[in-house]
Amino acid sequence: MSNSRSAINDITPYIYGTTKLGDEAISHEERIKIARAAMNSGVWFHTARMYGNALEVLGEVFAEEPAKVPKLIIKIGWENIGQLRGVIEENIKPLGLSGVQLGQLCLGGELAKDFANGGDCYRVFQDLKDEGLVQGYVVEAFPWTSEPPLKALRAGYTEGIIDGFIFYLNPLQRFASNELWNEIVERDQPIIAMRTVSGGPVHSLRDVPGFAWKDYLQKRAVEVAPIFERSTIKSWTEFCVRFAHSFPQVKATVGSTSHVENLNEFLSAKENIEPLPASICKEIEALHHKWSNELDMLAEPWTM
Ligand SMILES: NC(=O)c1ccc[n+]([C@@H]2O[C@H](COP(=O)([O-])OP(=O)(O)OC[C@H]3O[C@@H](n4cnc5c(N)ncnc54)[C@H](OP(=O)(O)O)[C@@H]3O)[C@@H](O)[C@H]2O)c1
Repeated sequence: MSNSRSAINDITPYIYGTTKLGDEAISHEERIKIARAAMNSGVWFHTARMYGNALEVLGEVFAEEPAKVPKLIIKIGWENIGQLRGVIEENIKPLGLSGVQLGQLCLGGELAKDFANGGDCYRVFQDLKDEGLVQGYVVEAFPWTSEPPLKALRAGYTEGIIDGFIFYLNPLQRFASNELWNEIVERDQPIIAMRTVSGGPVHSLRDVPGFAWKDYLQKRAVEVAPIFERSTIKSWTEFCVRFAHSFPQVKATVGSTSHVENLNEFLSAKENIEPLPASICKEIEALHHKWSNELDMLAEPWTM
């Protein structure tokens, strides 16, 4: 495979997602504390300029112990190739770094078209790599943005420059379209799975009014909770980490928390990961396929 020298081969099976570091409802002190704990664990981090002042919180913690700075994925894009360099710079500056391991390509507008058609963006991707601003790329996919990556993958444009794909993949969501998913699996492309626990414990998603941020997640929790219970696995976090890593293409799962005890659950779940029994995976995969046709592909973009 062309990914033998890729940064993605070096990834940790659990990645700390940093949205909570930008949450103003949590004290600055608490956010520094969880960021430090995650940094001390040695896992990779996933971050973005749009997560409030998460980058500034990270910059503060990184400056304390430069030797412990984690490897990072940052979100970059958006509408045209001219934006890419500036977006990387607005991320790495507050982090106090000269580059990061992976850029998560969020493709919209002209950039998405160019990507699908094997255009100039690939030259720019290579230039930014040559300059050391990023060491590699993963392409983001949502149901409504799956088509350009699918076209590019089928045409072979991603070969040698795109290291993998990144999308929501957890028991309640699989946000690559069915077609893109099948193509990724068939071509054995690396995947980074996002939203490890689908936003929280499945019983809270199912039973606590307002806990699920969208109604469809509550309904999906009703379908998935009995499968989780039948597995006899006690911890939802463990179930979810094992679920993501049941797919051989999955290299890592990105989960977020503001609490050290929940971070510790993620960290213990990433040790000696055992795939879930095939029957459980098949059952959830069938739900993913059904949900994709019934809802995900029909949804207004960015509403779920
Ligand atoms: N398009 C994108 O690039 C994109 C979109 C969404 C997410 N992401 C990335 O993925 C990361 C994770 O996404 P996410 O936060 O939406 O989903 P998630 O990791 O599935 O869910 C995080 C939520 O689950 C709770 N939680 C975690 N462990 C728990 C436990 N053991 N018990 C009870 N509650 C627990 C956390 O609350 P506590 O704080 O109370 O622990 C938090 O509210 C983000 O930080 C971000 O880096 C990327």
